[in-house]
Amino acid sequence: MEIIAVANQKGGVGKTTVTMQLAAALARRAAVLVVDVDRQQSTVWWAENAAVALPFDFAGNQNPKMLRRLKDLRTTYDYVLVDTPGSLEDTDVLGSVLDAADFVVVPLTPEPLAVEPTMRTLGRLIEPRHLRYAVLLNRIDPRIPSQPPVWEELLDTTFGVPRFASHLRQYRAHAEAPVLGSLVTTMTRTRRSRNMVDDITHVSDELAAHLAPALVR
Ligand SMILES: Nc1ncnc2c1ncn2[C@@H]1O[C@H](COP(=O)(O)OP(=O)(O)O)[C@@H](O)[C@H]1O
Ligand SMILES: [Mg+2]
Repeated sequence: MEIIAVANQKGGVGKTTVTMQLAAALARRAAVLVVDVDRQQSTVWWAENAAVALPFDFAGNQNPKMLRRLKDLRTTYDYVLVDTPGSLEDTDVLGSVLDAADFVVVPLTPEPLAVEPTMRTLGRLIEPRHLRYAVLLNRIDPRIPSQPPVWEELLDTTFGVPRFASHLRQYRAHAEAPVLGSLVTTMTRTRRSRNMVDDITHVSDELAAHLAPALVR
């Protein structure tokens, strides 16, 4: 079992989106649990809006201390994804999650103002714990071809932080998904939704490859 925290102290970078969509993609071939320790309970709302049964198990409104107990229980989950709060005040909750985590996905939107809080999260909370992590660029504008290389260069050279090779583009269907309760696994396939599903699939393949031993049950 691998506990994957989705974390960044910057709000609005896509933690909840990435948690739910990655969980759905990983659940195609593995047993997945989503845990929400965020006081805003965004995933709970999303789960309640889902028209069809979620393809993964779901535990909303959790105390992060439960993650350590999950490890002791030796559950049958391959992946546990944890959505975490995005504000600087919730450092204790985030710290408890990171204490139990095996890997951290750090979503980052291509906005200058998101950089400083992200680097602070890495420097103060993730790197001191010697956790494996990767930054995931999210909300990349499909109309700006230069955006991915510019931001990848920034992460690789200026900041020297690990990142996913793939990224998530910005699509309206992502923004509508929590309201509709839709997941990449339940969406009707249109040209637009195909791109969104492909993006998530690439990221989930990369993540599964990083954590390959977890697949051997
Ligand atoms: N790739 C994307 N394309 C379009 N909208 C997105 C994308 N990722 C996130 N969003 C939207 O941006 C907002 C913030 O995302 P959210 O997942 O709630 O971030 P966080 O949990 O980090 O605060 C939400 O309205 C969400 O629907
Ligand atoms: Mg959130």
